Amino acid sequence: MKKLIEAVLNAKRTVALTGAGVSTLSGIPDFRGPQGMYRNPEAEKIFDIDWFDRDPGVYYRGCRELVYGFEKFRPGPVHLALKQLEDAGRLAGIATQNIDMLHQKAGSSNVWELHGSPLWHHCRICGKSATFEQVCSQLKAGAEVARCVCGGALKPDITFFGEMLPEEALIAAQSAAIGADVMMVLGTSLTVFPAAGLPNLTLQAGGKVFIVNAQPTALDRYAAGRYPDLREFAEAVKNALA
Ligand code: APR
Ligand code: ZN
Repeated sequence: MKKLIEAVLNAKRTVALTGAGVSTLSGIPDFRGPQGMYRNPEAEKIFDIDWFDRDPGVYYRGCRELVYGFEKFRPGPVHLALKQLEDAGRLAGIATQNIDMLHQKAGSSNVWELHGSPLWHHCRICGKSATFEQVCSQLKAGAEVARCVCGGALKPDITFFGEMLPEEALIAAQSAAIGADVMMVLGTSLTVFPAAGLPNLTLQAGGKVFIVNAQPTALDRYAAGRYPDLREFAEAVKNALA
C-alpha cells in the first residue's frame, strides 16, 4: 500500500473511482462479490427498466431495505478516508457507481454519481418528480409501489440497465480521469461500462492506476499497484494523514 500512498501524496491530481465494495464496509451488500446480490439471478431484474415498466414491484420489493433503508447506513472507513484526502487537498473528486449517497454523507464535496441516485424519483406516466423522503413515507405507510397522484409508478433517478447514464456526471468524470496523474480504483469489479472505462482514460493520458479490490479485475495487469483489502487501504490513508 506504501506505493499507492506515496503516489497520492505526490500527485498533482488524484481521482477515485468507487464501486459497491466500499459500501460493504457499511453493511450494504455488493453485487458480484461472494455475498453479492447477484448470487440470486432474479436480482438482475431489480435494476432493469423493462422489468420496472412491466412490474415496478420487482424493484420496490428488491430495494425496500437496500435503498429506502439508507438512512440507517453510515459512511464506512473508505468513505471517511476519501473525505480526509479531500480535506488534505489530495483528492480532486470521486466518480462513484454507488447509489447509496454515502460519499456525500461522509462530507465529500466533489462526487460524480455515474449511476444516478434515488434522491429524486419521476413518474413513468406524467414525469412529475417526487423526493426520496416523499417516496419513503409512502412505503412506510404500507404502499408496495410508490405512485404519483396520476397513478403512475415513481421511478428513482438511478440508471437502470437499458438506460443512458447521466451525461453531466459521465462527462465530468471522464475529463477528471484524463486529467488525473493518479486514479485509485476502489471496490469495483470493473465489469459495467462506461464507468469501467474510466481507468483506461487515465492510463492512456499517461497517468497511473492503483486498484484495491478483493477479486481480480481486467485491469490488474496495467495497475501500478494492486491490493486486495479496502480496510487496509483506509487504515493506510488514516496513518499517512495523521
Ligand atoms: N475489500 C476489497 N474488495 C472488496 C471488499 C473489501 N472489503 N468488499 C467487496 N469487495 C469487492 C468485491 O470483491 C467485488 O469485486 O468489491 C467489488 C464489487 O464489485 P461489484 O459487486 O460488481 O460492484 P460494482 O463494480 O460497483 O458494480 C458496478 O453494476 O449492478 C451494477 O449498477 C450496478 O453500480 C453497479 C455496477
Ligand atoms: Zn404522474
